Amino acid sequence: MMLLRAIEQTFCKLQEPSLDQLKAALQSIDCLLHNVPDYKTEPQQLSYGRNVIYSTKNLEVIVIHIPASGSTAIHNHGSSVGTACLIKGSLVNTKFLLDSEGYPIAQADDFIRAGEYFEAPREQIHQLSNPFHEPAISVHVYSPPLDNVKRYLPYSEVLDYVI
Ligand SMILES: [Fe+2]
Repeated sequence: MMLLRAIEQTFCKLQEPSLDQLKAALQSIDCLLHNVPDYKTEPQQLSYGRNVIYSTKNLEVIVIHIPASGSTAIHNHGSSVGTACLIKGSLVNTKFLLDSEGYPIAQADDFIRAGEYFEAPREQIHQLSNPFHEPAISVHVYSPPLDNVKRYLPYSEVLDYVI
């Protein structure tokens, strides 16, 4: 409960926060983030658990649970920016650029350990993967709340094989 109260008190003041302001706000409640796993949910329609624990018209706070061997789709964040902290486990954050046909091409993999922060600047296209044996639980803040998020399929998954 202290975590939810701290999130409300910290984030209710932010109107149109920059990425740096979002990150600073999340870091200011760092000492309570060990309670984030209390709010994890199991995957249902998605391949990962997704629990919105606080939302206003300006931003939303989401707990993400990616099970061992799970991953998100390749996606952007619409017109939102985001920051996140990995609370438990490890993740690989793969960033993509689009080729001339609009297919995502992987550019770089970042390895993220528990306790580390990572960011989703505007227009970033990425995928979070958990190729490890432990579940990964993270807390994410997006402003404005996510809307018009786009998913991308790699070319290898949309190929029609004609022989
Ligand atoms: Fe994302």
